[in-house]
Amino acid sequence: MAIKKIKARKVVDSRGNPTIEVDVITDKGISRAAAPSGASTGEAEANAFPESVDFHVRNINNKISKNLTGLEPDLLRIDRLFRDLDGTDNFSKIGGNPAVAISMAVAKAEALDKGIPLWKYLNKILNKFLKKELSVESVVTRPLGNVLGGGAHAVGGTDIQEFLVCSRGETVSDSIFTNAKVHGMVKEKLKKKFPGFAIGKGDEGGWVAHITDEEALELVKISCDEVSADVDFEIRVNLDIAASSFYNKDSGYYEYKNSGDKLDTDSQIDFILELIKNYNLYFVEDALEENDYEGFAKLTGKAKKLKDCLICGDDLFVTNEKRLKKGIARGACNSILIKPNQIGTMSDTLRTVALAINNNYVPVVSHRSGETTDETIAHLAVASCAPMIKTGVVGGERIAKLNELIRLEESI
Ligand code: PGA
Ligand code: ZN
Repeated sequence: MAIKKIKARKVVDSRGNPTIEVDVITDKGISRAAAPSGASTGEAEANAFPESVDFHVRNINNKISKNLTGLEPDLLRIDRLFRDLDGTDNFSKIGGNPAVAISMAVAKAEALDKGIPLWKYLNKILNKFLKKELSVESVVTRPLGNVLGGGAHAVGGTDIQEFLVCSRGETVSDSIFTNAKVHGMVKEKLKKKFPGFAIGKGDEGGWVAHITDEEALELVKISCDEVSADVDFEIRVNLDIAASSFYNKDSGYYEYKNSGDKLDTDSQIDFILELIKNYNLYFVEDALEENDYEGFAKLTGKAKKLKDCLICGDDLFVTNEKRLKKGIARGACNSILIKPNQIGTMSDTLRTVALAINNNYVPVVSHRSGETTDETIAHLAVASCAPMIKTGVVGGERIAKLNELIRLEESI
């Protein structure tokens, strides 16, 4: 079953910015995927759109489509062809977002051709790269949802980018609705704290208020504890520090605007360890700036002595096998955030997931702050048996993934 045509179009994302959507057309039907975009992107990410979105739409429709028409929708082969066509390390010609939209749509087309669901297809490819086969018996993924934040996602909010909750319910559905309760509780607490003031939402649907990071942590922790009283499972607090966004490269200090604190690397590590201890954090992402492998290794070593906390690299690894290898060699983290558009193809994403799993790094699949209603990452999380998927709590582009997880849980 050959590809008959590839059709790209410009669509709108959750921030109102243009992004790219791709249809892969075969005799079996249309397989569609759209690319998200980040705001606090890592320096080493694929170049999302080297030219305008309009340019890339034309490039796919007039040129790339011709290269792919007539080929079988074979993900590994097409992704390789793509890398060759681009010829750069970071997709600075074709663009990481055009590439990932095509790659995701090709994966969907191949799954359709084989008559299997996308998660099962992705799991088959992943198993080619894994040392020990991973079989999906049920949906083990739980949603990690942003309830309060700031950083690059909301002007005037906290310095720490995301305060996230993860409910570890019996079912994914329980966890989704419990995260939503915490999100609602955070709003109630903010309304009480700032009577008469408007409260807004950031790009990912978390609330935004002008408070310090520690005030925010207190508020989220109390909200979790109160919602916990009605359920018989754990609700843990988690953070994406996105430390590169307030690290001053010239001075070498982490500069917190709201509190006025300026921390050197060792003080930043101690601060994070204090937070892990005081708030029983389960997951801390990008606690240090994106090239400080040594600092991450120090933090991970010290955090091990505390308790079960995932020290995760997002901007640090950018879903890139080479960067993850370097991290593994240095003991930089014990978890990696997985965002397909950081690397540009689904097969490279799966290679990075496999490298993580083969080395006991926990993969956490993630949305971007600028999203579409594409649901591919829900399948990726299920296929990888990732314990968590970071995909918000509310908002159409976030619930597109959450509701897909509910459907998957029902069908698996
Ligand atoms: P981004 O943020 O999508 O804006 O990069 C999300 C994150 O840092 O995890
Ligand atoms: Zn991040």
